[in-house]
Amino acid sequence: MTLWNLGSINADFAYRVPRLPGPGETLAAESLTRGLGGKGANLSVAAARAAARVAHVGAVGPDGRWAVERLLEYGVDTRHIAEVGEVTGHAVIAVDPAGENSILIWPGANVAIPDETRDAPLAEARVGDRAVAQNETNGQGAWLATAKRLGLHTAYVAAPFDAQAVGAVLDVLDLLILNRVEAEQLEAALGRRVADLGVPDVLVTRGADGVRWHGAEGVQDFAAPRVEAVDATGAGDTFAGYLLAGLDRGLPMAQAIGQAQVAAALMVTRPGTADAIPDLKDVQDARLGP
Ligand code: RIB
Ligand code: NA
Repeated sequence: MTLWNLGSINADFAYRVPRLPGPGETLAAESLTRGLGGKGANLSVAAARAAARVAHVGAVGPDGRWAVERLLEYGVDTRHIAEVGEVTGHAVIAVDPAGENSILIWPGANVAIPDETRDAPLAEARVGDRAVAQNETNGQGAWLATAKRLGLHTAYVAAPFDAQAVGAVLDVLDLLILNRVEAEQLEAALGRRVADLGVPDVLVTRGADGVRWHGAEGVQDFAAPRVEAVDATGAGDTFAGYLLAGLDRGLPMAQAIGQAQVAAALMVTRPGTADAIPDLKDVQDARLGP
């Protein structure tokens, strides 16, 4: 099966900082790392590293050809990445000594994805394939609706969070992934519990408190592996990519969650985004404490 991922592609500028800067503050960073990022690209790389067949759907500007090359090197199908007349999306990421980050993005080409770029892959997709989107592109609502109509399994990662964007796709989702803060915001905005959204599977990632799965059999909690946090950037994207790849390989949800948790935990121990995503062997060999 193929995982079709409509998602962002960013140039990440990641700075280590002594602390996250406050309002009105000018702060010198201690180091700069540049590399491939974007919640979408990170998810594609994670799924590819987890042995899924993944096709990325998105757009870059003329300055983003290197990013497409990078995705290709990771084994991602890049045929459905358009080159448009906008600057490639980019992110300025500050990471503090505790591994916490704050991220500023310029969406650029990610929100200029042409209609035909989104439509073409769905014409190729087959019943039983998976479609996933996040909230850093244009057009994901209609795209997921079409994917659902065509018989694909649909998943949405509610990041960066926007209650309206989530509300608009709920009816066509098989799987919703969000973090604890996003879950609380969604419940407040809709006046409904995440368990009552009508989405068959809802996963709430809760950092050190693990993952909560709201599924047909009720609620199940999965404890988080304990690791030394270096850089949490991309951990959520890695979780989602590994999860979908695991499901695609036929793992039951509980096992797919467990493997995705290990991948995300390893990711937290490594600086950087797409290039730091662990491969399947590292994840399978990891021995992490509870
Ligand atoms: O989730 C991490 C990602 O968010 C970064 O790679 C950055 O590009 C932003 O999209
Ligand atoms: Na990291």
